[in-house]
Amino acid sequence: MPDFNNDLILITCASGKQSSALIPHLLKSFKKLRLQCNSSKSERMLSSKYPGVEVVQADMASPSDCHRILDGVTTCHLVDPPFHPHETQLGINMIDAAISQRFSSSGPFTHMIYSSVIFPHLRKLLNHDCKRYTEEYLIESGLNYTILQPTHMMEMLPLALLMSQKTPIYQAN
Ligand SMILES: NC(=O)c1ccc[n+]([C@@H]2O[C@H](COP(=O)([O-])OP(=O)(O)OC[C@H]3O[C@@H](n4cnc5c(N)ncnc54)[C@H](OP(=O)(O)O)[C@@H]3O)[C@@H](O)[C@H]2O)c1
Repeated sequence: MPDFNNDLILITCASGKQSSALIPHLLKSFKKLRLQCNSSKSERMLSSKYPGVEVVQADMASPSDCHRILDGVTTCHLVDPPFHPHETQLGINMIDAAISQRFSSSGPFTHMIYSSVIFPHLRKLLNHDCKRYTEEYLIESGLNYTILQPTHMMEMLPLALLMSQKTPIYQAN
């Protein structure tokens, strides 16, 4: 059972589209959230948007940063930066740090939630492909885990523009 007063929940990529949609729901029940972002601009934005909530700046390419942000964490909601050239490695760094928290320290780490993507085995979509390796690493990690496979966020679609067109065309970059 979650301890809503004492569990510390880490949400990575907290300034991004995926995590931004999740944070308001978690804030309703959990007292202790730690929000991770990469840039100082996002750190300022998150601190002013969520006063009183812990915000940390970290690069998930750095194993020591991953250890730092997981310190004292009970559950991590892991979202990886999209189209990062080493996205798989970033996920693995976080899983390695969580393994260390769970098995080598007396920390409270209990659960890794990995926000992957729908159909990670579609290898032609490079940002999907890299997630299947992270999923495999997590499954074999010995950690308690949950893998989520979300589909396209509707925020990405220029709905007003499409609705104004007689024959709507979605311009995919
Ligand atoms: N958007 C969708 O429709 C969708 C659907 C399914 C799955 N996904 C997956 O969900 C994940 C997040 O997507 P998103 O659209 O939410 O991303 P996004 O809006 O582009 O946000 C990117 C996030 O990554 C952070 N970041 C960048 N480099 C980093 C680094 N080296 N270390 C740690 N954090 C770093 C950014 O922090 P700063 O703001 O500080 O730079 C920001 O919080 C991706 O893996 C994507 O493939 C997205």
